[in-house]
Amino acid sequence: DYRPTPEDRFTFGLWTVGWRGVNTFGDPVRPPLDPVDAVRRLADLGAHGITFHDDDLIPPDSSSTERDAILQRFRGALDETGLSVPMVTTNLFTHPVFRDGGFTSNSRDVRRYALRKVIRNIDLAVSFGAKTYVCWGGQDGAETEAGKDDHAALDRLREAFDLLCSYVREQGYDLRFAIEPKPNEPRGDVLLPTVGHALAFINELQHPEMVGVNPEVGHEQMAGLNFAHGVAQALWAGKLFHIDLNGQRGVKYDQDLRFGAGDVKEAFFLVDLLERSGYEGPRHFDFKPPRTEDVSGVWESAAGCMRNYLILKEKAAAFRADPEVAAALAAARVHELAEPTLSPSESVADLLKEDLDLEAVGQRGYHFERLDQLALEHLFGTR
Ligand code: GCO
Ligand code: MN
Ligand code: MN
Ligand code: MN
Repeated sequence: DYRPTPEDRFTFGLWTVGWRGVNTFGDPVRPPLDPVDAVRRLADLGAHGITFHDDDLIPPDSSSTERDAILQRFRGALDETGLSVPMVTTNLFTHPVFRDGGFTSNSRDVRRYALRKVIRNIDLAVSFGAKTYVCWGGQDGAETEAGKDDHAALDRLREAFDLLCSYVREQGYDLRFAIEPKPNEPRGDVLLPTVGHALAFINELQHPEMVGVNPEVGHEQMAGLNFAHGVAQALWAGKLFHIDLNGQRGVKYDQDLRFGAGDVKEAFFLVDLLERSGYEGPRHFDFKPPRTEDVSGVWESAAGCMRNYLILKEKAAAFRADPEVAAALAAARVHELAEPTLSPSESVADLLKEDLDLEAVGQRGYHFERLDQLALEHLFGTR
């Protein structure tokens, strides 16, 4: 009956269910959500964990006594429900000082403050047992090329990750970083706009093994890209450290719809990929319940994310188990791609003496339409 359990490893950002619906044009529509209520509610719904930005949990103006009290209440709720905190992240975007970014602000004093803010929150993350630290540089970008020296920005971004990785190593923490790409919003153009940009950047770091990606469904789709292909390449590179699941319809502003309520076919193939990939990390929902919803609608929306994942998981498994699909995969030569183009014993000379019957092979059809139709019919529920 698609009832989630903690074994499904579903996690939610505190800022998702806690989103009050404020946007560029409208005031908040919902009351603040007590983090303790968020923990209890998510546990009731069958979630595995909760994640947060430093400022979601601890309002930035809190005194140290207030901070301690908040943390104690929050830990109490976690202990009571068994909810975990597998990932933590930093808010480097709300405060006006971050108007030109955090790690890549033109202002050196802001960059130093951003690093301090992250380092302090890393200590907190580790105290909660988090194994992944997400970095989303939403304000790190530009509206005008004239205002940002990209070469220097990438140097500073590398400096930031090298420093954070060495801090984590010195402390002996068991923590990895996951960079979250996004093409735009809030900046006109954001640095490291796609999974591909982030993967290339990671290779330039001092400790690339400590840094992976946190791709978000909607963010790749905002750039017109296929999310399943982006995740596949992250997996191929051994870099899928975390994932943000949500929904997006087309190349437009960041919609953060609940998971499944976007490109359904891509969601189906994403779940199919994740479930077969051996990815064991959290299935993390980063969505925003629309402003039309009252508090009850927020929890409907959260439950819908998990339910949609489980429905798609069942449909993807049925697709893979269908004998007609097996035949269609064979007709489409899908498995043949796994075979190396030259066998180990062969040389270039062997390759050169071979000939291809261009006339005959040029006639070959791949029957992908049949395969795709079978997938859609599983998705539609007609098989
Ligand atoms: C967005 C982002 C953020 C990040 C979060 C983690 O809405 O564009 O997805 O929600 O995931 O800030 O740092
Ligand atoms: Mn968003
Ligand atoms: Mn988003
Ligand atoms: Mn996200």
